[in-house]
Amino acid sequence: MRAVASVTTAQRPGLAEDLVDILEAEPFEDGHSPLAALTIGEVGVCYEALIALTDSTARKSSGQYFTPDDAAHFMAGQSRTFPDGGWMDPCCGVGNLAWHLASVQNDPAEFVQGRLILVDSDRAALLSAVALIGADFLAQGDREGLRALHSRAVQRDFLSPAPLPQHDHVIVNPPYARAPMQPGLRTRATREFFAFFIERVATSARGFIAVTPASYLAAPKFQILRDVLDEANDEDRDRAALVLNSSIPYIWWRALDGGVPLPKGVLFGTPIPDCAADDATLAALARELQETEDMAAPG
Ligand SMILES: C[S@@+](CC[C@H](N)C(=O)[O-])C[C@H]1O[C@@H](n2cnc3c(N)ncnc32)[C@H](O)[C@@H]1O
Repeated sequence: MRAVASVTTAQRPGLAEDLVDILEAEPFEDGHSPLAALTIGEVGVCYEALIALTDSTARKSSGQYFTPDDAAHFMAGQSRTFPDGGWMDPCCGVGNLAWHLASVQNDPAEFVQGRLILVDSDRAALLSAVALIGADFLAQGDREGLRALHSRAVQRDFLSPAPLPQHDHVIVNPPYARAPMQPGLRTRATREFFAFFIERVATSARGFIAVTPASYLAAPKFQILRDVLDEANDEDRDRAALVLNSSIPYIWWRALDGGVPLPKGVLFGTPIPDCAADDATLAALARELQETEDMAAPG
């Protein structure tokens, strides 16, 4: 949090007091700023690395795998075809998707002040998103805008039955991890955060843009989610954009990272990029894929 305080207060001295209050962290005294000049995607990588080192189990169980800049930018671009309205990122992490969403608006400052809603269960990530997005898009002295953004940043379990913040559209890269049974959701038997998030988004928003790995959505156990999406598409909606992760670098990036377990058929049908991992990594990956295949088998 001190690294986030350092980079954001240096960038927006006029907002420094509020940024320190929000982050509850002081900038480094010696001007040291390890996040200076990093993109939001690179900050996400640092955050992932930090939690992987401090608590890799928690990272896996809450599915903290962030979207790279090029994928986030591509997704955000789809929002240009949506009508005006409020946008929610229901699991924003350090703000990768929301940052790119703001960047493609005609008036990013107006968007950040009044139409962006951030949600995450991880308080440190959520507050970092507020600070990083506020510092990049709000004017030097726009303390009111920063407070408004902060007031629309909610630390909560997105899946809890409590009513969601008012919103029109959603941009989301859901967590990828096994989840406890979630009563009330049609996809409850999948026991996957991915399905639970997409169902809640598809049934609450007027339109949404989602990372939707083809390997996930195509698996037999997600038939129920495909039904939910088909029905949601039949309703009177603004727009639904499902972004399928079929790009070769993205699939390999996720697979080598261990973030998204892919069925063997998808992975082995995907050409291998130039920089391959060593044999031990590939052997471990193959074992994990076999387990995934077994898990995803019907029945
Ligand atoms: C796949 S990451 C996506 C983060 C960011 N939106 C991005 O695209 O880079 C998923 C995020 O979901 C959050 N998360 C996990 N379970 C959650 C829950 N039940 N409610 C809200 N957020 C949750 C994690 O803390 C993590 O930041």
